[in-house]
Amino acid sequence: GPLEETCLPLFFGWFLCPAFQDKLRSMAKDFLKTLTGLEAFKKHLGDFTGEAEKEVDLEHYFQDQGRLHCTTKFCDHGKAEGSKEYAEQQVVKDRYGSMSELMLSALFLTPRTLGARVSFTEEQLQLWPAGAEKEAAPDADLPPGSRAHVTLGCAEGVEPVQTGLDLLELIQQQQGQEGEQVQDLELGSLAYYGKGAWVLSLRESILAPACFSGFYG
Ligand code: A2P
Repeated sequence: GPLEETCLPLFFGWFLCPAFQDKLRSMAKDFLKTLTGLEAFKKHLGDFTGEAEKEVDLEHYFQDQGRLHCTTKFCDHGKAEGSKEYAEQQVVKDRYGSMSELMLSALFLTPRTLGARVSFTEEQLQLWPAGAEKEAAPDADLPPGSRAHVTLGCAEGVEPVQTGLDLLELIQQQQGQEGEQVQDLELGSLAYYGKGAWVLSLRESILAPACFSGFYG
């Protein structure tokens, strides 16, 4: 009967430890503050405001999306394609509830989203669903895990799923062209990719302690 069926979460993913969430949020906040003050950013303000001269408060521009996490499989409680198959994998069952350290290699923002790029170890990659990149960028040939990220904020009216799509677009741009290197900041080097897309490649990757689990909502 229905009670014997497994109940699938809204999504599976790694949930950052609460203390680390605060740390990452304040780091992102500092980054936005620095960015806002840069002449190079002011030059491209129109990407965010639609008007060249208007000021923007990035900290309020990006709305917090709650518990910071890195989604592996979005299941939509079983409605999303392949969610049952994903949940039934032995590796998913074995690792459920286990801790891991996620490597954050860059911070990025577009006029839609603010995120941190996640670079997986081979072991973490085993929990990444097949086809996550193809589903979002059918014409690109991107290595598995390219879409992995932590959403840090979304502009008003933008859904968090957009962060991964923005990241994939950025990675494709990075393959095709170098960004305009803007300057070296304390945390790393900042590059501009046009249309309001900025990437801060971290000098030293950050290790984020996280727990692999499901979010039921
Ligand atoms: P993300 O992982 O970029 O933060 P929602 O609140 O919209 O239901 O989304 C819940 C979580 O699942 C969010 O973390 C969101 O994005 C992610 N998500 C939503 N839709 C998808 C999708 N179609 N593919 C992958 N991840 C998704």
